[in-house]
Amino acid sequence: MAGGRAAARPHQGAIVWNDTPMTMLSAGPLLEVTDLTKRYRSGAGTLTVFDGLSFAVEAGESVAITGESGSGKSTLLHLLSGLDDPDAGTVLCEGRNLFSMTEAERAVFRGRTMGYVWQQYALLPEFTAEENAAMPLLAAGRGRRESLAEARVKLDEVGLAGRASHRPGELSGGEQQRVALARALVARPRILLADEPTGNLDQSTGEAIISLLLRLQEAHRLACVVVTHNLEFAARCRRVIKLGKGGAVSLAAALA
Ligand SMILES: Nc1ncnc2c1ncn2[C@@H]1O[C@H](COP(=O)(O)OP(=O)(O)O)[C@@H](O)[C@H]1O
Ligand SMILES: [Mg+2]
Repeated sequence: MAGGRAAARPHQGAIVWNDTPMTMLSAGPLLEVTDLTKRYRSGAGTLTVFDGLSFAVEAGESVAITGESGSGKSTLLHLLSGLDDPDAGTVLCEGRNLFSMTEAERAVFRGRTMGYVWQQYALLPEFTAEENAAMPLLAAGRGRRESLAEARVKLDEVGLAGRASHRPGELSGGEQQRVALARALVARPRILLADEPTGNLDQSTGEAIISLLLRLQEAHRLACVVVTHNLEFAARCRRVIKLGKGGAVSLAAALA
């Protein structure tokens, strides 16, 4: 993609590189984070995870979130998906403020617009691969036959057509993460959120998952926000946001 790499607004606790040409911004971002602040309070005091974090993600754009353990990466993904509430700031998704919805509205909205992939796969052990992949459709009230058919299409897309009737315990880690990807995409979301999706996998399996995830991201023009410690993965994303622990500004080389 052409366009100069200009530093976005500096934020406490984060460095953002943005090479999105301004001409792409006219339609409005798919995800717009403004002045997001999150604190955890405990007997030991208040921990400010980030303070005034702002960035936007366009349709079809891949963004890597990096940073040390404890820097707030998972916290940020929870806020982007509305699984947790901020202390201040907004997350607009398709122009709608996640935090002005009721819990029930948010759950429906999340199911329609976002797919989520976790480090630990989070598959249900008593269900088959196709049932696991169909779960978002079944949860949204779609018919079983139709949901399983859609799930099989997605399993085929992630290279697991032959494993549809296997349970998670009968699948390798890489295969389980492929099922999780199929599940994340089965409801045709526009945003894919992934929290260290290769963190439990050996290097070559992890690389295969990275390639698959980026291929799916491009094929479906997904906005993709992925937390990763894998610098090669980060380098293959359009942008990197590096979070700093305890609100400190982190420095890192801009990626080529
Ligand atoms: N529910 C919670 N209550 C209190 N502190 C929390 C909670 N969740 C996370 N934290 C703290 O917030 C910081 C960021 O956590 P997290 O987002 O999990 O970091 P990362 O994913 O980057 O490792 C850490 O210091 C963590 O201990
Ligand atoms: Mg984490």
